[in-house]
Amino acid sequence: MCETGDTFLLLLLLPSVLSLVLFLILLRRTRPRLNLPPGKSGWPFLGETIGYLKPYSATSLGDFMQHHVSRYGKIYRSNLFGERTIVSADAGLNRFILQNEGKLFECSYPRSIGGILGKWSMLVLVGDMHRDMRSISLNFMSHARLRTHLMKEVERHTLFVLDSWEEDTVFSAQDEAKKFTFNLMAKHIMSMDPGEEETEQLKKEYVTFMKGVVSAPLNLPGTAYRKALQSRSTILKFIEGKMEERKGKMEEEGGGEEKEQRMDDDLMGWVLKHSNLSTEQILDLILSLLFAGHETSSVAIALSIFFLQACPKAVQQLREEHIEIKKKKEKLELDWDDYKKMEFTQCVINETLRLGNVVRFLHRKALKDVRYKGYDIPSGWKVLPVISAVHLDPSVYDQSHLFNPWRWQQQNSGTCGSSSAGCGYSSMWSNNFMPFGGGPRLCAGSELAKLEMAVFIHHLVLNFHWELAEDDNAFAFPFVDFPKGLPIRVRRYPNPL
Ligand code: HEM
Ligand SMILES: *[C@@H]1O[C@H](CO)[C@@H](O)[C@H](O)[C@H]1NC(C)=O
Ligand SMILES: *[C@@H]1O[C@H](CO)[C@@H](O)[C@H](O)[C@H]1NC(C)=O
Repeated sequence: MCETGDTFLLLLLLPSVLSLVLFLILLRRTRPRLNLPPGKSGWPFLGETIGYLKPYSATSLGDFMQHHVSRYGKIYRSNLFGERTIVSADAGLNRFILQNEGKLFECSYPRSIGGILGKWSMLVLVGDMHRDMRSISLNFMSHARLRTHLMKEVERHTLFVLDSWEEDTVFSAQDEAKKFTFNLMAKHIMSMDPGEEETEQLKKEYVTFMKGVVSAPLNLPGTAYRKALQSRSTILKFIEGKMEERKGKMEEEGGGEEKEQRMDDDLMGWVLKHSNLSTEQILDLILSLLFAGHETSSVAIALSIFFLQACPKAVQQLREEHIEIKKKKEKLELDWDDYKKMEFTQCVINETLRLGNVVRFLHRKALKDVRYKGYDIPSGWKVLPVISAVHLDPSVYDQSHLFNPWRWQQQNSGTCGSSSAGCGYSSMWSNNFMPFGGGPRLCAGSELAKLEMAVFIHHLVLNFHWELAEDDNAFAFPFVDFPKGLPIRVRRYPNPL
């Protein structure tokens, strides 16, 4: 009974099963098969995220990238941050992605970043709103402002930090670099002065905030992320208080050329006067500028202190360059002409950014189906251009693992820690060097960051000899950090210039 029943059922269903199979075969034929880059998906949901985020030495690619690139090539697919992802260590594809922002690809940071930096933060905005916010930031760090206003501020804040250094004590160079960049940003954005009670308070709150930005986005009681969300609202309340205070002053003082000028002196005054952004938008803008302008350049400065202490020959050459600049000066403060003379310093800065890779990869997603070098990148997929991978590629930069500022000179005149000479590719710079990203989202503060590094290096090499007090190394978590804070000991040169 049962058997005949089953057979009967089977016979009844057979035609539909057959046609379904036929249909599927036809579907496969008519729909072109995607040629996805090779790779694997890893665990459900987590994918390969844990491996990808495992800390590694900042001057290396890390095991994960190393293994995947050697196994699959410079373009591979994976499953990261809960999404299907194409990872690119390919210079050409990275450039292609960044140049096609808004057309084929779009900025796409994880939701947790938006939660903490705010939905109006520049990192998460796209389209017109991004353009408006960007032009405010660019305006505020324009070449003209750098020359006139920022140059002086940068030097003042450098000296504020360096003058506090004591001989025969051990201190964290990373903390000192953070102090410098934080003070500078707080002054530039809200006219807050270092050392003052409220500045120090904000700095403390900000440290908690930062821990959350870089932590796992678990919004549970007691987690770093939850604490950071609380910090975020404390900081926003603080900034809002400052803003109300400012608005009050603006009304009180009214017009007047001179006062107008003074209002333009910091970002808050400028935005209040010249833009029609809402309070919420201004708060997020200020918070994200504080973040973008402080965390990155402080790491870059710490990295230069770290690389240089292992390369006395470069320090010697820097000293010669800066003594020469100092000797020819009449005025005490640095000016733009002095800055332009810091040629070898620029090589040191580029090499620090190349080898240290402050920002290692960017978050994008494909807006359309894209074909690149025969590979398909399906619309909606996450795309991660790994800018650091190109900087550490030995086929692009000879002996890429070595700190060699001379490779940036047209004529090479020596290397550090290696016997062979570096190389001066002329097209290499624009094509393969992108520490500040590229395209329509190129870092708005890149010129400021380089100015900060140069001025800091100027006073550092003129006044101090420094050494590591304890072994430490830069790790990528993937944000770059020195686990021990880069402890150093300094000696002042006996005859300061
Ligand atoms: C060495 C230091 C720095 C490095 C390595 C760096 C790196 C970067 C990178 C790679 C991006 C692109 C992000 C993306 O495309 O997704 C970026 C964006 C940005 N950076 Fe920097 N940055 C540095 C310093 C600064 C400073 C000092 C400021 C000043 C406030 C700043 C402000 C910004 C802003 C506003 C953006 C967003 C630009 C946009 O979306 O249009 N950065 N930065
Ligand atoms: C600011 O005003 C202009 C018109 O003057 C308008 O086009 C723009 O959308 C406004 N922006 C915001 C953020 O409200
Ligand atoms: C440093 O890199 C930039 C590209 O970001 C390039 O324009 C500049 O010429 C480089 N500087 C030196 C000294 O090579």
